[in-house]
Amino acid sequence: MRKPIIGGNWKMNRGIPSDTVNMLKKLIPSVKKVNSVDIVIAPPFTALGSAVEITKKSNIKIGAQNMYFEETGAYTGEISSLFLKKLGVEYVILGHSERRDIFKESDELINKKLKKALSMKLNPIVCIGEHLEERDAGKTKEVIHNQIHNTFKNLTKEDLIKTVIAYEPIWAIGTGKTATPEQTEEIHLFIREILELKYDSETANAIRIQYGGSIKPTNAKELFEKENIDGGLVGGASLQADSLFEIIKAADATTK
Ligand code: PGA
Repeated sequence: MRKPIIGGNWKMNRGIPSDTVNMLKKLIPSVKKVNSVDIVIAPPFTALGSAVEITKKSNIKIGAQNMYFEETGAYTGEISSLFLKKLGVEYVILGHSERRDIFKESDELINKKLKKALSMKLNPIVCIGEHLEERDAGKTKEVIHNQIHNTFKNLTKEDLIKTVIAYEPIWAIGTGKTATPEQTEEIHLFIREILELKYDSETANAIRIQYGGSIKPTNAKELFEKENIDGGLVGGASLQADSLFEIIKAADATTK
């Protein structure tokens, strides 16, 4: 049985430490009894220290939204896995479509970051997904196939299992347009097929695959009920404790 994982990707929001702490103070008591779902919150870098501090005795883990693959050096503006690790951060989101599209991150770069994160024992959440034009042109599977091959290049089976994949169709991110549970399940199954060919069925079945893209309390349940959807990566709806808690409850309900 794969444990569902709900990630809150706050993007460039709530980066003021007091703002992060206020939200987490509301969330911590409500999720206290949730132990069948992994909960990860990823605030901006500026609030990571405060987030780690306030969640220390809770069941919420803290994640970063990005990192660089070198540990230290002349890389102006970058943050290394070592700094994150020392701060008490446990997860890192890699290859989000906003990083790929706006900041021109390639599969090759994400692959380097992924290997570094794993070597530092940070849990990676790796995002993949197609643009609307690619879906309309019938190229979704080709895009996903290439992203998996390039992003996970030369990864051992043991490392792959520690990775969480977030399937986030780009046309569904922040648009209010959610992929249907059927569309999502189809791609999640396809991802497992690719991994089965690349590794084996045990590995393909063990890895957790989240969905991301306009998840809300109103659509979470139908998505998480699908056999191959192991929770979600939530943007907009993760900024408020109430709506995020509703989504966490929906994931928790699928484990009962
Ligand atoms: P959204 O973002 O829930 O606001 O669509 C999801 C994401 O980008 O991870």
